[in-house]
Amino acid sequence: MNKEVPVHILEKYPAGKRDGLIPILMEIQNEKGFLSEEVFQEVGRYLNIPANKVYCVATFYDRFRFKPAGRYLIQMCRGTACYLSGSTTYLDEFVRQLKVSPGGTSKDRRYSLEVTSCMGACDSAPVIRINDKIYSRVTPEDLVRIIRSLKEKTE
Ligand code: FES
Repeated sequence: MNKEVPVHILEKYPAGKRDGLIPILMEIQNEKGFLSEEVFQEVGRYLNIPANKVYCVATFYDRFRFKPAGRYLIQMCRGTACYLSGSTTYLDEFVRQLKVSPGGTSKDRRYSLEVTSCMGACDSAPVIRINDKIYSRVTPEDLVRIIRSLKEKTE
């Protein structure tokens, strides 16, 4: 078994049952940080789905990453509530100050920036997630502090 695909994840799902595909990919990404070519092949073999089909399904969802993220993964929600609360301005500020494009990773690999669909916390909009930490009802002043803190941690 390839070590890109943890056995303990596959063992939770019956072989050949295609409805396990998304949960398996989610668990692998949570553990490994991204989905590689080997993951598509191995999971495809396990579920009896061609690897290119596994890849096609994964690319349909914006939650999956296909490259390793930077040291800090910044996820900016752009669901309706967050959009109406100014998330676009916040996104622009990350781009400008951290020199990272949406969907990309900075050259120094410190930051990755992702735009996500609703994170399910609309009453706390705008919402930003950085690695495992969620920032709710982020104000422009909070954003200044968040960016300053990120820069300090990576200097
Ligand atoms: S729209 Fe951002 S959490 Fe729902």
